[in-house]
Amino acid sequence: MLARVYSCAVIGLDGVVVEVEVDTGGGLPKMVIVGLPDTAVQESRERVQSAVKNAGFYYPRRRVTVNLAPASVRKEGPAYDLPIAVGVLIATNQLDPQTVENTLIIGELSLDGGVRHVKGVLPMAALARQAGYRTVVVPEVDAPEAALIPGITVIPAPTLNALFDHLRGDALLSPAVPPEHDPEEILVDTDFSEIKGQEHVKRALEVAAAGGHNLLMIGPPGSGKTLMARALPSILPAMTIDEELDVTRIYSVADMLPSDVPLIRARPFRAPHHTISHAGLVGGGNWPHPGEISLAHRGVLFLDELPEFSSKVLEVLRQPLEDKVVTISRAQGSLTFPANFQLAAAMNPCPCGYFGDPSRPCTCSSTTVTRYQKRVSGPLMDRIDIHMQVPRVEYAKLRDLKTGESSAEVRARVEEARARQRQRFEGTSIASNADMYPAQIRKYCELDDACQALMKTAMRQMQLTARAYHRVLKLSRTIADLAGSEEITQVHLAEALQYRPKLELM
Ligand SMILES: Nc1ncnc2c1ncn2[C@@H]1O[C@H](COP(=O)(O)OP(=O)(O)O)[C@@H](O)[C@H]1O
Ligand SMILES: [Mg+2]
Repeated sequence: MLARVYSCAVIGLDGVVVEVEVDTGGGLPKMVIVGLPDTAVQESRERVQSAVKNAGFYYPRRRVTVNLAPASVRKEGPAYDLPIAVGVLIATNQLDPQTVENTLIIGELSLDGGVRHVKGVLPMAALARQAGYRTVVVPEVDAPEAALIPGITVIPAPTLNALFDHLRGDALLSPAVPPEHDPEEILVDTDFSEIKGQEHVKRALEVAAAGGHNLLMIGPPGSGKTLMARALPSILPAMTIDEELDVTRIYSVADMLPSDVPLIRARPFRAPHHTISHAGLVGGGNWPHPGEISLAHRGVLFLDELPEFSSKVLEVLRQPLEDKVVTISRAQGSLTFPANFQLAAAMNPCPCGYFGDPSRPCTCSSTTVTRYQKRVSGPLMDRIDIHMQVPRVEYAKLRDLKTGESSAEVRARVEEARARQRQRFEGTSIASNADMYPAQIRKYCELDDACQALMKTAMRQMQLTARAYHRVLKLSRTIADLAGSEEITQVHLAEALQYRPKLELM
């Protein structure tokens, strides 16, 4: 007889229902899988046959035809083993078809009938609920991840046998319960109190964290740029549950969810090396895989030694920095991954590192300095809200300076500023001031006459582009939020303007 079981494919970050039809008929004893399967699906023939036999079930000595539909959806990976095996049991009358009604089944089989981990279970469970299924069967190890989706029963399958007994009602498997919401997690690599001096840089980091703004630190080697960037995660605001799910979905599809961490609670902090490839940064590949900019979604992308990155790699950052998503084109049509990250970058002012240093001469020629700085294009520089000069702190002073505020103290202020933003943008997709579109900028970043006069002068003197103008307004909004002020005042605006790049660095 013909058996029909439902399973799931993931395209980009979204699940798509796949119908698994299994038919047994005459002909040579052989399994044929049709419906554009890739090599992994072909291998699943061997696994399904062994698993069914080794689990003690009857495997037909006839032709078994498996059709994965729709054919237009390219299927990847071994997630269809379990639904195919269940289909075989139904097609050979060992299992009643009604037992899998309203159920989506996902899982890889080992040769002995064990059910193994599959990536992307979170978007699959989300699809199952959205498409109106009541139950989703997933590998036992992936059940806590699937259980993050409310409103659908998640059955953890340890083995084909256990699932068979469950479906027949002989020995029920308990549905997975959503993982407990642990106290929030903060990544603390470096605490703010470890950073001596550099008060103005710490202030800039606080402003960046409070509004989700991009930041560039420029200074000589050893001035603490890397140290301070690594301290940024310790003052970032906690994520909302929607943000956590958003991030977790990406890591689920990238197969980067640690098995003991079903839900990602800490904002991502990604620091790819400058030798990273184009595909590694933006995503891509045969089966498009999210890149570093998507793994940094809702968190920080830290590019240390910015001019060392190839200019081709840096140019592709422009679209996501503007649109907060990245579009990957491929033969089967283009795909979009979220990429709403906060860029933190660091660079030396010149190859030797001492251009502009008060105590040590720069050995680079002026053309070398210009060429070095030009490696980072003007349009990319223009998309960075906060440009910070980082001077070196003398060794003697490093020892003398007393310890400053801890990350926890700074973070408390960041959280307050974020609370104001959450209230402001409630019911919209905007998470922080940096995400505002022109409509919100008009509404929430109004300038009084004095501020307008200041802005007009600055626009002329600093030759601000229209994009820079909007970025200054958003930054002023964040500085006002940190000060607990409804209005943007001249003080707030002046601080925001001070973070624009100096002209010789453009
Ligand atoms: N302001 C500072 N407070 C504490 N330590 C510092 C400071 N600046 C530099 N350091 C020390 O100097 C080392 C080098 O700093 P680093 O962040 O690598 O500099 P950069 O990235 O600017 O070249 C750090 O490991 C840190 O121990
Ligand atoms: Mg460094």
